[in-house]
Amino acid sequence: MNVIAVEGGRTLQGELTVQSAKNSVLPILAATILCGDTCVIENCPRLEDVDASGAILRHLGCRVQWQGEDLIVDSAPLCRGEIPDEMMRRMRSSVIFLGAILARCGRAELSYPGGCELGPRPIDLHLSALRMLGAQVEESGGRLCCSGGKLRGAEIVLGLPSVGATENAILAACGVGGTTVITNAAREPEIVDLQNFLCKMGAEVRGAGTSTVTVEGGRPLHGCRHRCIGDRIAAATYLCAAAATGGDICLRGVDYRHLSTVTTALCQAGCRVSSGEQWIHLTSGGALRGICPVRTSPYPGFPTDAQAVLMAALLRSSGTTVFVENMFQNRYRHVAELARLGADIRLEGPVAVLYGVKRLRGAPVRCTDLRGGAALVLAGLQADGVTEVGEIHHIKRGYGDLPGDLRRLGAAVREIKK
Ligand code: UD1
Repeated sequence: MNVIAVEGGRTLQGELTVQSAKNSVLPILAATILCGDTCVIENCPRLEDVDASGAILRHLGCRVQWQGEDLIVDSAPLCRGEIPDEMMRRMRSSVIFLGAILARCGRAELSYPGGCELGPRPIDLHLSALRMLGAQVEESGGRLCCSGGKLRGAEIVLGLPSVGATENAILAACGVGGTTVITNAAREPEIVDLQNFLCKMGAEVRGAGTSTVTVEGGRPLHGCRHRCIGDRIAAATYLCAAAATGGDICLRGVDYRHLSTVTTALCQAGCRVSSGEQWIHLTSGGALRGICPVRTSPYPGFPTDAQAVLMAALLRSSGTTVFVENMFQNRYRHVAELARLGADIRLEGPVAVLYGVKRLRGAPVRCTDLRGGAALVLAGLQADGVTEVGEIHHIKRGYGDLPGDLRRLGAAVREIKK
């Protein structure tokens, strides 16, 4: 079992190019099956979740191979429309294949993704969107069977701006004739990236990034090359790491506009941030201070995926910060682990109150989920002595090389065998 060993006390400095966004790459890999042709995902990050998507694509019959840093998917030989239970469990966001398989095969069978580390992860909005397109959805024994005898473009109104449901609806709508209009769509930048990819394939999708997305379905699609946008959550992780260690870093390959709520919070805490096309520079103010309440919400609000790393950045701040987690029920599981290092955070339902402490002390801790795991590494960077972070498979789901990236910025972080 490997652990990440973090020796605290170093200041982060230097430049780093951020990986492509996990949350763009995953739906785009699902989208490759729509065209029955070859797609090249340039500079694809090496993530566990990308491997899990690759395994699903191969199971469906696609050819998937790495060529250097590019991932090539040929979906011409696709011959199956079902995903086995163990592949669904390996990655909760595998449900994104539902709309794409339905569009390509007219029928999709997969298992219910169930709950995950963040709490229950319902897919009712995904299913109701597909039903509005005319799909018949049957659920039995944890398996979901979607058949689309009479699929046609339709008006889809989402009860919540769910990222996954918006993506599933867009993917399914590309494969059916007629116009689909999705109202109350999620507005995340990764949905804009998916739209750009689909348009390169020949699809007609517009409006992504706003609450109304329109798809003119049934267009003939072909293969294409695509480089996904920079990962705003990985960027938030490194900015928070630099902020917490009195650092000075410049991140490249990421759109600063996608991070405005995160950089605003860090400026309130005392950092200075400047930015331009595809770069962000942060200089930490040294000792940070507590900030106004941080409430997670759909984009363009503060991202739930950055809640844990911002919390980690503020552990030694002066004063108090209140967090309100509005997106997922179990998103404070890192708090108990942070307490092992000496953090003072009180939980009450969706609210966490952080009281800054003077010192953190290294201790053995365990990742509870992907971003919570990154938060533990960030806490270790500020702690006296060594922090060993276990269960690092969570971190590998979403960061290509978190220890390596932090080392490039001057931190003493290593993955070691235990
Ligand atoms: C995506 C991101 C994830 C991020 C989340 C919220 C990917 C691969 N994952 O996840 O990193 O944390 O957005 O920004 O892009 N909901 C329902 N019914 C549904 C679907 C969702 O009630 O059918 C609820 C969820 O429980 C949650 C909220 O809607 O409370 C938002 O979830 P959603 O936007 O769907 O998140 P994901 O797409 O799963």
